[in-house]
Amino acid sequence: MQNILIIGAGSAIAKACARRFASAGRHLFLVMRDETALAEQIADLHCRGAGSVAGAALDILDTKKHDQVIRQAQVQLGKIDAILVAHGSLPDQAVCEQNIEATLSAITLNGTATVALLTGLAQLLEQQQSGCLAVITSVAGDRGRESNYVYGCAKAMVSTFLQGLDQRLSKQGIRVIDIKPGFVITPMTEGFNRSGPLWSQPEKIAGIIEPALLHKRGTVYAPGFWRMIMAIICLIPTPLFRKIRL
Ligand SMILES: NC(=O)c1ccc[n+]([C@@H]2O[C@H](COP(=O)([O-])OP(=O)(O)OC[C@H]3O[C@@H](n4cnc5c(N)ncnc54)[C@H](OP(=O)(O)O)[C@@H]3O)[C@@H](O)[C@H]2O)c1
Repeated sequence: MQNILIIGAGSAIAKACARRFASAGRHLFLVMRDETALAEQIADLHCRGAGSVAGAALDILDTKKHDQVIRQAQVQLGKIDAILVAHGSLPDQAVCEQNIEATLSAITLNGTATVALLTGLAQLLEQQQSGCLAVITSVAGDRGRESNYVYGCAKAMVSTFLQGLDQRLSKQGIRVIDIKPGFVITPMTEGFNRSGPLWSQPEKIAGIIEPALLHKRGTVYAPGFWRMIMAIICLIPTPLFRKIRL
């Protein structure tokens, strides 16, 4: 796995991954929306030992520009061994409940615009007949909960899309990975009470993602104990589920 495309490269989890990739001398193409931050991150990853680093600015909502940026990455990297998709935003659930625009914009970024992006990325990997596509969704997609079901339903959309892509692309030797983190200490969760054993640092999640890109397919919970937690949450009978706050 030498050539890696990272989309949403400015996210804390993606940054932690990129640092690991750089120190292993890999060739990277970063996609993020802030050009200044992109230039800074490229310089940082050069210093950390990346074989090469380039990038392009992209707002994921600008779906008409997806193809152009994917092509830029292809020109720069040649064959792409792995793609990590990591952009996202956590909307304020209470605001969404009162505001259709907020709800739709959260679903667009985390759901439909991501699916649009994955459509182009799947075509690229299909042309190559090789590679790995890893997308960070969330445990929030496993069951709609009152605390975050707007975010959760968008993530569930992407997870279902990935299941279909996995079935389609596995026949061509392409691995599709749905990475489902639990609680991670990043700018996205600022303002939460982030103490306790369920919270992870982005570096820990990166330590799960890097080997997954090399060997895994299907769903990867990060950390793995979230598989059990979410299985239990999904098994709670609906009448009981209605009575609790989650
Ligand atoms: N933190 C958690 O507890 C947690 C849990 C489960 C899943 N996740 C998922 O993990 C992934 C990484 O999140 P993180 O926790 O590392 O959060 P983060 O540091 O807040 O990163 C989110 C990134 O998404 C980018 N982004 C937002 N809107 C964008 C747009 N329209 N176009 C392009 N980029 C856009 C942001 O770019 P700017 O820097 O330009 O704003 C930012 O770099 C996300 O998919 C998130 O949903 C996080």
